Amino acid sequence: MTDLDQVLSLPAGSWADTVTGMLADRLAGRPDLVVCLPTGSTPRPIYDRLPDALRARQVDLSAATIVALDEYVGLPSDHLARCDVVLRTQLLDRLDVPPRRLVRLEVDALEPETAAAAFDEAIVAIGGLDLVLLGLGRNGHVAMNEPGSTADTSTRVVELAAATRDVAIGYGADPPPTHGLTMGLRQILAAREIWLLATGAGKAAILSRALTETPSAAVPASLLLDHPALHVIVDDAAWPMTAECRQG
Ligand code: PGA
Repeated sequence: MTDLDQVLSLPAGSWADTVTGMLADRLAGRPDLVVCLPTGSTPRPIYDRLPDALRARQVDLSAATIVALDEYVGLPSDHLARCDVVLRTQLLDRLDVPPRRLVRLEVDALEPETAAAAFDEAIVAIGGLDLVLLGLGRNGHVAMNEPGSTADTSTRVVELAAATRDVAIGYGADPPPTHGLTMGLRQILAAREIWLLATGAGKAAILSRALTETPSAAVPASLLLDHPALHVIVDDAAWPMTAECRQG
């Protein structure tokens, strides 16, 4: 059972503005932030707003490091479903100034296992992750750490769950990739701060499981609850009940 203080439930209509402001404020306060960014429908409205929010604060990413969270294996480098392509088109290409550094999963240049090891070494070399933003999969995954992933798993090649393959189909990868390269839960849990993001009624059931069941590999997101600086930042469609309701 999570401490409800860890959960920030915001009105659905203002969730994206608020979270974008929080991220822009964080970058304004720490221009050299090392921040890991996910792709998917959840962060997209944040990325839509972030360039303007940074401009308004007169801050840019010229000192910041962006770290990729995961990537499909086997898709061509320009495929529109690729996580790096999505992050570039939805955010990076729209920034006034590119980030100082982009740490990617080098699935094109290296064998996947070699790319995973190189990625973890790169994270260590830059001094670790300050902040990791995560979406929540409908099956409880975070990044591509599918159900069954334990807290000690490093960045690695994983077989994608059927639900995750369906998401790839939605992005135009049909047939979908069968495998992905994901930052491990070990690397995520070693970050100094984690923001778990979830929006919409479609996430309510899995969010409730993640936050209220005994943490286990069956719902990998639940394994984040032990992190001392986890912030669960959701909208009131994903976490509709008040604290009083839950306690009652
Ligand atoms: P979504 O995906 O943001 O598109 O809902 C989250 C995830 O599957 O990790």
